Amino acid sequence: MESGSDSPIVCLEFFSGIGGLHYGLQQSGVAGRVAMSFDMNEHANTVYEHNFGQRPNNKAIDYLELQDIDRHRANCWLLSPPCQPYTRGGKYLDDQDPRARGLLHLLALLPQLKTIPDYILLENVMNFENSRSRGILVRTLGLLGFRVQEFLLSPVQFGIPNHRLRYFLVARREWSRPASISDGESKEFLEWSAANEQRTDVYLQQGRDAVCTTWPPPGTGDSSSAVCLAPLASYIDTEPNADPSLLVPSEHILKRRNLEFDIVRSSSQTTSTFTKGYGSRHLIGSGSLLQTAQLDVVETGFGSPEKLLPLGLRFFSPREVALLHHFPYTNYSSDRQAVNGNQTYSLSFPPSTSQRQQLQLLGNSLNVQVVADLIRHVLIGTIR
Ligand SMILES: C[S@@+](CC[C@H](N)C(=O)[O-])C[C@H]1O[C@@H](n2cnc3c(N)ncnc32)[C@H](O)[C@@H]1O
Repeated sequence: MESGSDSPIVCLEFFSGIGGLHYGLQQSGVAGRVAMSFDMNEHANTVYEHNFGQRPNNKAIDYLELQDIDRHRANCWLLSPPCQPYTRGGKYLDDQDPRARGLLHLLALLPQLKTIPDYILLENVMNFENSRSRGILVRTLGLLGFRVQEFLLSPVQFGIPNHRLRYFLVARREWSRPASISDGESKEFLEWSAANEQRTDVYLQQGRDAVCTTWPPPGTGDSSSAVCLAPLASYIDTEPNADPSLLVPSEHILKRRNLEFDIVRSSSQTTSTFTKGYGSRHLIGSGSLLQTAQLDVVETGFGSPEKLLPLGLRFFSPREVALLHHFPYTNYSSDRQAVNGNQTYSLSFPPSTSQRQQLQLLGNSLNVQVVADLIRHVLIGTIR
């Protein structure tokens, strides 16, 4: 494992869910560890503990105190705050939504910490880049001397046959407050602050143009060559007797008369975003359904959903969704291995987590490979 930093990477993982960011750190190959994770969802925490052997702190992040954070002396923060404040379903309430409080609270604490991290990675939905919360985030980081880079990226850009366009911010503290400045009124302090403020204003004036939509980012690799998508079939269980509980109930299909279903076959190129509604009665817009019969028939169901009934439509299984999200999935309970003295963690679900909960947790999660590449980029690569 490699690390571009002199000191070992010690991460805090906020809004940890089932640990997508933790797996991303592992997959990046950067030498580092997660000192503590934070999430108030007990189902997610049970899965997290099952796999990583450490239960996340379930205190609401909105109520964390300086000491809760400072005691870990972490030099890297990984965050995936709730996305509802930035979605239509959440009425675009942005920083006025109570679900944004956790993130805003962390940003308020950040300048007061004894140990300010050197690296930050944050994930959210597309549209976060247009929010007031993003403005607060970028300004807070800029004034502390972070260089910020923002992205809108989808796993298909990484050769993975799944669309999941997400906002990412990575930041590295390049203009730390010099240790020699002890007096917050001194000339040196005022100059350092003014330089940070000016850089931040210039950055924010770019608006959406600051957000990079290509990978690798310009200037860091060959972004001209087209990426080949891995075959979708390699992510799919082809057993003819797949779990019958994954079959889409006919009554749910027949209720959707004037909508197009998103149906793929194992020969298809790619799949759509799996959301936390996947596997429920919300068949439209929650993720692709897999056609397992009459594979020569191409149907969307618009106007005549009964035509879909012979097509053997089923949901992707939790295992298949986890593999498309590039989790190191295993069927075996908490398969932890030591490689070169380092623990490696895989993802499995404890028997108490129902299939529906597994799909919900995975739908809330993220693509581990995209995170891994971004972590490598911010920790050991270069930022424009
Ligand atoms: C988008 S999900 C993050 C999923 C995670 N990255 C993963 O890989 O599973 C947001 C998570 O934040 C948690 N959460 C939301 N608000 C919180 C708060 N105020 N305090 C602690 N956890 C919170 C939710 O329980 C949820 O698991």
